[in-house]
Amino acid sequence: MRVFVTGATGFIGSAIVQELISAGHQALGLARSDAGAKSLIDAGVQVHRGDLEDLESLRSGAAMSDGVIHTAFNHDFSKYAANCEADRRAVEALGSVLVGSDRPLIVTSGTGIVATPGRLATEDDAPASSSAVPRSASEEAADTVAARGVRVSVVRLPQVHDRVKQGLVTYLIALAREKGVSAFVGDGLNRWPAVHLLDAAHLYRLALEKRLAGARYHAVDEEGVPLREIADAIGRGLKVPVVAKSRDKAAGHFGWLGFFVGVDSPASSAQTQERLGWRPTTQLGLIADLDGASAFEA
Ligand SMILES: NC(=O)c1ccc[n+]([C@@H]2O[C@H](COP(=O)([O-])OP(=O)(O)OC[C@H]3O[C@@H](n4cnc5c(N)ncnc54)[C@H](OP(=O)(O)O)[C@@H]3O)[C@@H](O)[C@H]2O)c1
Repeated sequence: MRVFVTGATGFIGSAIVQELISAGHQALGLARSDAGAKSLIDAGVQVHRGDLEDLESLRSGAAMSDGVIHTAFNHDFSKYAANCEADRRAVEALGSVLVGSDRPLIVTSGTGIVATPGRLATEDDAPASSSAVPRSASEEAADTVAARGVRVSVVRLPQVHDRVKQGLVTYLIALAREKGVSAFVGDGLNRWPAVHLLDAAHLYRLALEKRLAGARYHAVDEEGVPLREIADAIGRGLKVPVVAKSRDKAAGHFGWLGFFVGVDSPASSAQTQERLGWRPTTQLGLIADLDGASAFEA
């Protein structure tokens, strides 16, 4: 297949294009800058110039492809809600040119948008409304294009890690370095799920090839890593003290990360593994990757 990949220059998208190429597919990567285009060419990826805000560039990329994987996202968290709405428009634009075809569209979401206190979130759990959780806009847009007959499926990501980046944990490392302490909230027993980058990239390919309409997949290996263990690993890596913050003090310490850092959001991938034959067991776990993380190198 010739696959249009948005976010092909990013952390996850660049792993996806290598996974696609290794499996014999062709990748057409979205690039919004000369530097991005060069990095794609160097990686053996065809370039499609455009921007998330330029919906015609998204439509034309999708139109010249056999399938689309959408991973681009503007991670400026000071404009988070606006960026989530931009993602809604991007998904709707990509889907609009796939109506009436069997060409698949894979949309990226997060396991964190499903709130199931006290139990594992499953693929069947509906996300919170985007009025409460802005990132749900991506899945709402997927539902909109599904209703128009597009073969769209959603991949919900947890913290995606290798030795270079570890999802939101990368921002926690930067904060701990700045503040001189590695913090967690309350007793730190709240959990974040996690997956290795290469396992996540493999799942995207399987989801693309499966072409199921309306499927939701959880790219989850570890169902829930306690924030206390993550804070301990950061403390070890940076050689800074590990401290607890009360819920009252969390916003002051963590800033925009305070929205995420006290949340307990364990998630299962049992259905995903059964549907796709995906086995995310070949790579290191989050704490092992953190213990060898490049961010801690002198
Ligand atoms: N990493 C995780 O642990 C994690 C967890 C949950 C969900 N997710 C989601 O997974 C997806 C991929 O994340 P990531 O970690 O790979 O992010 P990333 O490394 O920040 O990459 C983001 C990608 O989006 C592109 N992009 C940003 N703004 C754009 C714009 N206006 N027009 C065109 N392209 C634009 C970037 O292009 P440039 O190279 O030009 O900047 C880059 O290719 C996102 O939807 C993210 O929210 C990630």
